[in-house]
Amino acid sequence: MSVPRFLTLNTGCRFPTLGLGTYMLQGDVLKQTLDFALFLGYRHIDTAASYENETEIGEVLGDRIQAGKLSRKDVFITTKIPSTCLRKSDTLESAHKSLSQLKMKNVDMLLIHHPWGQVKRKEGENAPLINNSTGKREIEKVDFIETWTALESLFKDDFTKNIGLSNFTIGQIQRVLSAAQIPPANVQLECHAYYQQQKLKAFCDSNDIALSAYAPIGAVNRPDIHKHNTENLTEDPLIIELSEKYEKTPAQILLNFLLCRGFAVLPKSSSPGRLEENFNALSFELSEEDIKKICTLDRGVRFYNFLYIHHHPEFFENEEF
Ligand SMILES: NC(=O)c1ccc[n+]([C@@H]2O[C@H](COP(=O)([O-])OP(=O)(O)OC[C@H]3O[C@@H](n4cnc5c(N)ncnc54)[C@H](OP(=O)(O)O)[C@@H]3O)[C@@H](O)[C@H]2O)c1
Repeated sequence: MSVPRFLTLNTGCRFPTLGLGTYMLQGDVLKQTLDFALFLGYRHIDTAASYENETEIGEVLGDRIQAGKLSRKDVFITTKIPSTCLRKSDTLESAHKSLSQLKMKNVDMLLIHHPWGQVKRKEGENAPLINNSTGKREIEKVDFIETWTALESLFKDDFTKNIGLSNFTIGQIQRVLSAAQIPPANVQLECHAYYQQQKLKAFCDSNDIALSAYAPIGAVNRPDIHKHNTENLTEDPLIIELSEKYEKTPAQILLNFLLCRGFAVLPKSSSPGRLEENFNALSFELSEEDIKKICTLDRGVRFYNFLYIHHHPEFFENEEF
């Protein structure tokens, strides 16, 4: 038994369930990682304008396509509009820049990265402006419905095959749905055994929106993330018990749990061994009973706290997103 390798989006497009996360991957490390991931069979790549790695991704994919080792239609590329580009003109400019860096006519998925508009530090850059006296990000008051309308026009002009959201609450998704001509096909959010997004999952299921999980193995080995939170999902006693039972690694149990629940997963790794390990999370299936056991681990622990933006009126700390 194995889990599905694809979901079908509400546009009819196939969405590979195992994607490669690329946040914090750049330069030669990214190129080697991506090349090996494609060799292993990864066909879904998650990037963002703010990851500043679209050029390298475009180069690796372009080389493989030119060498006849890959067809463009067989690989699913997601990129994202930064929160400093939520105004319509900035959204369009950011999308066109992403396409030019990726050297592609279109991407497969374009997401609004966050609903929290921020002021740019400098024209032509994505980095946000930080207020010198408060140390906080400067808020840009822009309604994300304006951004959504820009995404719809990019969709209609075939610059992207699908459009969606990331880090949006149920209320915010609902607002997009009410204003939309084209509903979101995908919502990307933090999701793992300690933060299971039960309400958001039920809401998106009932609206035919596919979910993809970031930090699916709990962003382990990331001191920057774990300075506010010392919990390590791969060391959880139940996850270790199940890893012994199934003869799989803790990361594979954690990924398979989300795949069984109908999520796409976006693990990041730059280690060849762990890339292969993560990809092989597709090749088995946890029993219903063991899925129920992992469900009991849900405890509202987020690894991405977004402390820099809690003062934004669209930031809802006590809601799932
Ligand atoms: N939409 C958003 O706002 C948002 C936010 C965050 C992330 N994302 C996306 O989601 C992706 C994944 O998130 P993430 O990188 O934070 O979390 P993650 O994939 O849960 O964790 C990545 C960390 O786990 C380690 N790792 C990977 N595979 C492992 C394994 N099998 N066993 C043990 N450790 C393993 C990696 O180290 P090694 O590299 O050394 O293996 C890396 O330090 C990102 O790359 C990005 O594409 C999106």
